[in-house]
Amino acid sequence: MRILLVGGGGREHALAWKLRQSSYCDALFAAPGNAGIAQLADCVPIPPKAIPDLVDFARQNAVDLVVVGPESPLIAGLADALQEANIPCFGPSRAAAQLEGSKAFAKQIMAQVNAPTAPFAVFDDPDAAQAHLRERFLERPCVIKADGEALGKGVFVCETLGDALDAVEFLMVERGLGEAGGRIVIEERLYGREMSLLCLTDGQSALPMPPVRDYKRALEGDRGPNTGGMGCYTPLPDATPELIETALSQIVRPVIRAMAQRGTPYQGVLYAGLMVQESQPYTLEFNCRFGDPETQVLMPLLESDLIELALATVEGKLHEASARFSPRAVVCVVLASGGYPHEYRTGLPIDGLEQVSQLPDVLIFHAGTRAENGRILTAGGRVLNVVGLGDTLSQARENAYRAVEQIRFEGMHYRGDVAQSVL
Ligand SMILES: Nc1ncnc2c1ncn2[C@@H]1O[C@H](COP(=O)(O)OP(=O)(O)O)[C@@H](O)[C@H]1O
Ligand SMILES: [Mg+2]
Repeated sequence: MRILLVGGGGREHALAWKLRQSSYCDALFAAPGNAGIAQLADCVPIPPKAIPDLVDFARQNAVDLVVVGPESPLIAGLADALQEANIPCFGPSRAAAQLEGSKAFAKQIMAQVNAPTAPFAVFDDPDAAQAHLRERFLERPCVIKADGEALGKGVFVCETLGDALDAVEFLMVERGLGEAGGRIVIEERLYGREMSLLCLTDGQSALPMPPVRDYKRALEGDRGPNTGGMGCYTPLPDATPELIETALSQIVRPVIRAMAQRGTPYQGVLYAGLMVQESQPYTLEFNCRFGDPETQVLMPLLESDLIELALATVEGKLHEASARFSPRAVVCVVLASGGYPHEYRTGLPIDGLEQVSQLPDVLIFHAGTRAENGRILTAGGRVLNVVGLGDTLSQARENAYRAVEQIRFEGMHYRGDVAQSVL
């Protein structure tokens, strides 16, 4: 089969690595890819949001299956455009991707199926939103969420009424995130441990992957600004089979059923962001695609053929499929550019990649990199994902950090505490 992979981050490098291992893979293209993906696929300089160009490319190159990494093209309707051209796409339709594209829509579906989640209200008007805050959250923390796509910048966990009123001002009046803040969700703050539960679904069945815990803040001890993700690990000692079953039966399966019933069946990866409080999972959000960096720990564990699973997903045959995962432990540490998630420099040479490629139980997935004259240079905020495997989390962690110590670029920063608290 001829596969087109859309995206160019660490998630897509991990997907490319896994797709390449499939006996079904005759050709692999990536749009736009990165320096790591280029070692596995033919990279073409088409940005993920250029939907007509992607469809044209897929048609002209007889692509049999498109695998989409990032959310933006899905929310914008890439799967629909491909379907019109009769090209199978692993990833939900525009209507189904609203589960990520609109936080208000996601909350409405959760409410409809009684999926446990924080009590909430939706506002289109800043005065009404602020009146609600003064009435309900005078002395209670709350969370304010921009409804639309905000690239991880649209959520404000507010300790005080003042913070909450400011967040409404920023989103709705100043339009600090543009269109995304025209509508907001105000919800109660939950407490507990977060967990990412990614499931494959063909619109009916759901196949869960091992739960992952990620690190969003830039600095150790969960300080500093939010980022795209600074690391993650699996397995989670607190993710019991009962907890996963509860999340599937109370959240994932009812939502999949509801999406089918409203005529917008959900196909692809349904990623539930959960907050677990005393063994009860609550839904924070849904994402409509593989996580980044969660995928970088899941693909190394996946023993089943990814193309087979993707085909079963798009053909509605997941009930016949199984997804086998190794019971080993994996830790991913993200190496970021100095200054990230704020301003940072690019074009800096990276040293040590050759040495670490020899290490056992270590995988390197590139994020923001490019090749120039045989050298690998930094080209983004998150630069590399260093993945360590082991029979235990402590082994996996040692393997990851041993490799991290051999990689260098000017300004490089990373968190030294990924998976530390569980050990
Ligand atoms: N109701 C809530 N209670 C406590 N923390 C929350 C709540 N909703 C979101 N958060 C925090 O904010 C982060 C981002 O929110 P999320 O809904 O995942 O949006 P996004 O990933 O699109 O920014 C979550 O990972 C969590 O740490
Ligand atoms: Mg999130």
